[in-house]
Amino acid sequence: MVTKGLQNIVIGTTNLSLVEGEKGQLVFRGYEIQDLARHATFEQVAYLLWHGKQPSDAETRALRQDMARHRALPADALNVLRALPANTEPMDALRTGVSAIGAATPGTNIDLEHALALTAQVATVIAAFHRLRQNLELVPPRADLDHGSNYLFMISGKEPTAAQRKMINAYLVLLADHGMNASTFTARVITSTGSDLYSAITGAVGALKGPLHGGAPSKVLDMLDAIGTPENAETWIRSALARKERLMGFGHRVYKTTDPRAEILREIAREYSDPAIFRLAQTVEDTGLELLHQAKPDQRLYTNVEFYSAAVMHAVGLPRDLFTATFAASRTAGWSAHVLEQAADNRLIRPDVEYVGPMGLTWNAA
Ligand code: ACO
Repeated sequence: MVTKGLQNIVIGTTNLSLVEGEKGQLVFRGYEIQDLARHATFEQVAYLLWHGKQPSDAETRALRQDMARHRALPADALNVLRALPANTEPMDALRTGVSAIGAATPGTNIDLEHALALTAQVATVIAAFHRLRQNLELVPPRADLDHGSNYLFMISGKEPTAAQRKMINAYLVLLADHGMNASTFTARVITSTGSDLYSAITGAVGALKGPLHGGAPSKVLDMLDAIGTPENAETWIRSALARKERLMGFGHRVYKTTDPRAEILREIAREYSDPAIFRLAQTVEDTGLELLHQAKPDQRLYTNVEFYSAAVMHAVGLPRDLFTATFAASRTAGWSAHVLEQAADNRLIRPDVEYVGPMGLTWNAA
């Protein structure tokens, strides 16, 4: 039997995260995502994914020091970023940057230290690329800032406000892992061949880039811009659906109810984002859900994580073409945890395909 898109195919077991699509539940290593978004830092959640337990205060301090120690990029990797054309797309730059860090880091590297180092460095790659493409001086990381604040600081050169710190940390926590999504699967397939951490994460970045996966949040903001005002929402959405277009930020392969991450981000956006953008987003969400349910009554289409990610990332001051790369900065924690888990109990991932092409042809040898 052929299962297009591998929907509902279970490819193995994991200790990392549980995605309950019917209930709208997301759990990392036994902890509900709501609990983590409220109480944990991104670094602590990365630790939880890598080690399977909440870090103690001393372990949290050591973790922050380790991340700070690893944040700088190898000089050769930085030179590769410098050589990229200024109009390179950020996800292409990130994919190249991860690969370049891998080239500059020879030897065995599927271990906790390299997972931590790469998670720290991905944020630096994005920030460095963004500064270089504007001909701006690089902003060195600051050891006293946490990971999310450092990321914003290295991008803008300005210390983020308390609200921005809260928002970026919650965003990074929420996106850190998510079951067997397409980019994680990509990372695990690459790991299963006996390849290395950097190849796995380079491949994962490539998979995340697509608009059906991580490429949607900037498109949500484009959609909100195109709609312009709450009064236009219904007409705009009706005509988009009539043209058979997909509404960005709606629908999910696994969630058949609202994505729990979208609910948390909605509350964060309500509290901290630009009120005009939030009002528009809420009207578009309500109208989009109503019209999608009318147009596709058999499909249970709800808001996904990308919808309010757009308002939150806009509110922390990120340019919209960095939204997907910021997603990758968070997910590197989960990807690397999956790489470690796959390598610890590996079997080559090699599914089958049904051949439906012609048979019995003879090559014309003349
Ligand atoms: N807008 C309109 N219709 C939709 C949408 C949408 N956002 N999502 C799904 N549908 C419809 C499809 O047209 C299809 O209808 P049909 O059977 O009448 O043709 C039906 O729902 C099923 O769609 P599939 O593509 O088979 O569903 P799948 O599970 O493969 O897709 C996906 C999930 C890719 C996320 C889809 O909902 C989508 O394209 N959403 C918009 C893009 C988006 O928001 N991406 C971010 C996803 S979240 C993440 O990866 C972090």
